Amino acid sequence: MSGEVVLSLRDFRVSFSTLLGPVQAVRGVDLDVAAGEIVGVVGESGSGKSVTFLGMMGLLPKSAKIEGSATVRGTELVGAKPKLMRQVRGKRVAMIFQDPLSALNPTHKIGNQIVEMIRAHQSMPKDAAMRRAIELLDVVGIPQPDQRARQYPHEFSGGMRQRVMIAMAIANDPEVLIADEPTTALDVTVQAQILEVLQRIQRDLGTAIVLITHDLGVVARVADRVQVMYAGRAAERGTVDDIFAHSVHPYTRGLMASLPSVSGERLIPIPGAPPNMLNPPPGCAFAPRCIHAVDKCRTGAPPSLAQVGSNETACVRAQDNELEVITGV
Ligand SMILES: Nc1ncnc2c1ncn2[C@@H]1O[C@H](COP(=O)(O)OP(=O)(O)O)[C@@H](O)[C@H]1O
Ligand SMILES: [Mg+2]
Repeated sequence: MSGEVVLSLRDFRVSFSTLLGPVQAVRGVDLDVAAGEIVGVVGESGSGKSVTFLGMMGLLPKSAKIEGSATVRGTELVGAKPKLMRQVRGKRVAMIFQDPLSALNPTHKIGNQIVEMIRAHQSMPKDAAMRRAIELLDVVGIPQPDQRARQYPHEFSGGMRQRVMIAMAIANDPEVLIADEPTTALDVTVQAQILEVLQRIQRDLGTAIVLITHDLGVVARVADRVQVMYAGRAAERGTVDDIFAHSVHPYTRGLMASLPSVSGERLIPIPGAPPNMLNPPPGCAFAPRCIHAVDKCRTGAPPSLAQVGSNETACVRAQDNELEVITGV
């Protein structure tokens, strides 16, 4: 980690009360994100990636119970009053999502929507805010930003709309930017362009960025560090190079093996499905799908991260040196 830690999660937990009982969506996550770094949070659908950060931001329904700690430079968000959360959201922590259209108002011009975002958190005259909005559109790579500011969302392509969302997200110089599957709905070329915009923000503004994705390929391109999630917990964590070159956890290796290789071969999905979070299995939640699982994997508390080689890994067999570190899966 290079800069100062900006975002910290400690034993962060989210459960939903449902008619069938509590759904334990996030079961004790630790994570630090420093200024100027991109941390990729990866895992299959349902592993608790979105719920972790929506929960931290106070954006989940009332049925969600949030526990543990989530701090932004020392400000505790768990249990924070709604007034504090409103000040934090959009100002200190900004989020972008997969579907930019749902977050844009179809009846308002793009420039005015960015102006509103700026003026919600800063006292700035309208004309100055509009100049800033146009500057922001330029920063995120929208050509002819002064003309584009006068257009409506439907006049923008999917990629251009996602750039607008990023412009709105950075409008108030947030300390943390959380991007939840920001390129999932976009084609590969546009996806690469959006990832470049995020890297530029990391480099030029020093923002701490959390990049949530189910796609390890996206993480490989831009992340400095990676946290792999499974069944609401961290399975493995390391620098992007170490995760790709020396993955230890059988789940990480499974995700790697299911990545399409350049030659198009090697596309082996992990057999089975993630557990039902109403009733997660004891021990390691991945054990039922793991070819390396033995009896000790299936009992006790879920394993925590511990250093194994270059990575931190939540696999008891790896921690007991019973699994080889696979190099360059
Ligand atoms: N409102 C809700 N009520 C009950 N369960 C939920 C709710 N929202 C999400 N979940 C469950 O929480 C788990 C984590 O979901 P999510 O964080 O969205 O996964 P992902 O890693 O794909 O982002 C899933 O099992 C999901 O079904
Ligand atoms: Mg999600």
